Amino acid sequence: MGIDFGVCIQNMKKKLILNDQLHGFDKEQNELIQIIKKTTDFGESDSMIILGPRGCGKSILLESVIKSLSPESHTLVLLNGLIHTDDNLALKSIIQQLQMENLDGTFAEGSYADNISFLLESFRAGNKTASKSIIMVLDRFDMFCSHTNQTLLYNLFDSVQSQQSPLCIIGLTSRIDVIELLEKRVKSRFSHNIMMLNPPSEISQLLERFKHSLIINKHCKVKADVLKNWNNNIELLISDVRIQNLMKDLLKSSNNSTKLNLLIFHALSNMSNDLILTVENLTNNYTTLFKKDMILVHLLGLSVLELCLMISICHHSEIYDQEPFNFEMIYDRYCKFALRNSTLLVTKRQVIIKAFERISVMQLILPVAVIENKNVLREYRLYKCSINLDKVKTASNLYFRLPPVILQWIDSNII
Ligand SMILES: Nc1ncnc2c1ncn2[C@@H]1O[C@H](COP(=O)(O)OP(=O)(O)O)[C@@H](O)[C@H]1O
Ligand SMILES: [Mg+2]
Repeated sequence: MGIDFGVCIQNMKKKLILNDQLHGFDKEQNELIQIIKKTTDFGESDSMIILGPRGCGKSILLESVIKSLSPESHTLVLLNGLIHTDDNLALKSIIQQLQMENLDGTFAEGSYADNISFLLESFRAGNKTASKSIIMVLDRFDMFCSHTNQTLLYNLFDSVQSQQSPLCIIGLTSRIDVIELLEKRVKSRFSHNIMMLNPPSEISQLLERFKHSLIINKHCKVKADVLKNWNNNIELLISDVRIQNLMKDLLKSSNNSTKLNLLIFHALSNMSNDLILTVENLTNNYTTLFKKDMILVHLLGLSVLELCLMISICHHSEIYDQEPFNFEMIYDRYCKFALRNSTLLVTKRQVIIKAFERISVMQLILPVAVIENKNVLREYRLYKCSINLDKVKTASNLYFRLPPVILQWIDSNII
């Protein structure tokens, strides 16, 4: 009887869904903790920008650092440039997150000038020792730079520089030129602490991530022999050349862990409990997830009319040895077929023109002349077909409930 790996699979899936375990970035983590602790432990204000491409782990790094702090030591304010699109919205959210609206009337409803002066007043009233530290995270920091006069950024950085109440501002962005976006007066108040985060660039780093995501640690409630078997198998997978090649391929198409996590989750979901994760399982899932035949996907997304036009186009191209064609030729060929089969509704010409245009927009057919000649009517514009009949045949066989007459028509192109 085989070993039941169900618990292991459930454990791994839970880990992937929770997605809260940072891997690597030890140096960066320490640096960030130092900055934040300066504020929470000693009341010194500071600011920092974390810079890195999308999906490189900026948010997960910050979350893991904040999780390691004791909740009583600080108040967290989270802002996002995509949500707080102007200073007023951002300000209202700050006041609400700091639960200040109840202190002195309904300020979050008041005017922008009221709110900002209230906030600055509160900052000024605080001091290093008595006030609770505030950690303010500005995700999509670059978007805050486009707010009018950068008033909010100016006031926040000014309050950091003048060491009013303890405030730590952390900006997250993927814009490498973010400092250039700051106005002079804002730039001069920013601490120029910038942390660069680099996504994995070597196969070995990605393999490490792979291992980190799949190894079960000893704290999990899994029987010792099952755990040993599972972890040994993961070690074997990592040393397999096929897995290394797969990682190489993955690294070429994406520089973050999102695709890797998706692949692992898919592979785990598609295996039964009494089987262990295999190379074939991973490679098969990789092919179905990321190596899709996009032309086939496009063809399957066509309407029946559009597919019929594609068949006409392919027939025409075969008969005339890939010579260019225009709409009239294809329309003629399609009508002949549609009239012969009374079961098919003959559609209006205008509708067929639209369908033909959609095929062209999807680049299943390509115009012969790159620049459109305004003197030629669109019905007479010349095109060439970019796919062959076999592809259309494969798509038609997979197409959901395609009328049989159309399937027969594909193989009999002499109409
Ligand atoms: N060092 C890492 N450890 C674990 N997971 C990571 C790491 N870096 C990136 N990831 C994964 O990549 C995904 C995107 O990371 P995220 O922190 O949201 O990126 P960013 O905020 O830089 O756009 C996360 O869901 C996480 O699963
Ligand atoms: Mg993020």
